[in-house]
Amino acid sequence: MARRIEIKDLDIHYGRFCAVRGVTLSVPARSVTAFIGPSGCGKSSVLRTLNRMHEVVPGARVEGNVLLDGEDIYARDIDPVAVRRTVGMVFQRPNPFPTMSIYDNVAAGLKLDKRRLKRSELDDVVLRSLRAANLWDEVRDRLHKPGASLSGGQQQRLCIARAIAVEPDVLLMDEPCSALDPISTLAIEDLIGSLKERYTIVIVTHNMQQAARVSDRTAFFTLAGVGQPGELVEDGDTQQIFGNPRDRRTEDYISGRFG
Ligand SMILES: Nc1ncnc2c1ncn2[C@@H]1O[C@H](COP(=O)(O)OP(=O)(O)OP(=O)(O)O)[C@@H](O)[C@H]1O
Ligand SMILES: [Mg+2]
Repeated sequence: MARRIEIKDLDIHYGRFCAVRGVTLSVPARSVTAFIGPSGCGKSSVLRTLNRMHEVVPGARVEGNVLLDGEDIYARDIDPVAVRRTVGMVFQRPNPFPTMSIYDNVAAGLKLDKRRLKRSELDDVVLRSLRAANLWDEVRDRLHKPGASLSGGQQQRLCIARAIAVEPDVLLMDEPCSALDPISTLAIEDLIGSLKERYTIVIVTHNMQQAARVSDRTAFFTLAGVGQPGELVEDGDTQQIFGNPRDRRTEDYISGRFG
């Protein structure tokens, strides 16, 4: 069950610093949305508000609303841990638990669950998640080797397997390929293409070609200057944003004339 996200009039603060102002954006279900824009414009900050990871930063604050299928994830009776289960996250640097086995890495989120799975059920989820992450064939004979024994690209796919093992509806990815070589990058891009049949995906990327290749929609953020809050300039179908942007700032950025 993939979910639609609506961000309404979102402001993000770190202490007294306003990092992002006035973002309103809709992310349709079962699609890939790319966040692009210059460094410091708040892409990662906005992404982290979508699963309440933002609030683990001391002094960080959010105003406005984030709705998942119409339900405010910041409502008082909503448990942030449950939100993070529904909205999974993959980070820039592959971060498997290094000494934990490949198998246990994938099962890690499930073991936090109150409902204890039988070994055979766990085996099943690990298999399915590794298949979905397009890693199974490479690790089927070494499931009990440590996570750190994999290449960077394999580790990133392991992290994606770990994220999808708990069956989220939404996957957030913050520059998931920036530490990877071109072959691993293509493997992750292919994977994103297949995952969007089931998940709503939001990806931050600095790579314009990647945004154009993997995303259905693109949101361009910028900031007027150092110390100014980031803002959303425009969002739309990726083809339109890259081929026929409405705002001059978008055009300058995608054609490399920024700054
Ligand atoms: N934990 C934090 N504490 C204080 N300020 C922060 C924190 N994280 C980010 N910021 C500030 O918020 C602004 C937006 O940062 P953010 O990391 O969201 O930008 P970004 O668009 O992801 O940049 P990049 O492309 O470099 O990753 C920046 O000015 C940054 O310094
Ligand atoms: Mg960032």
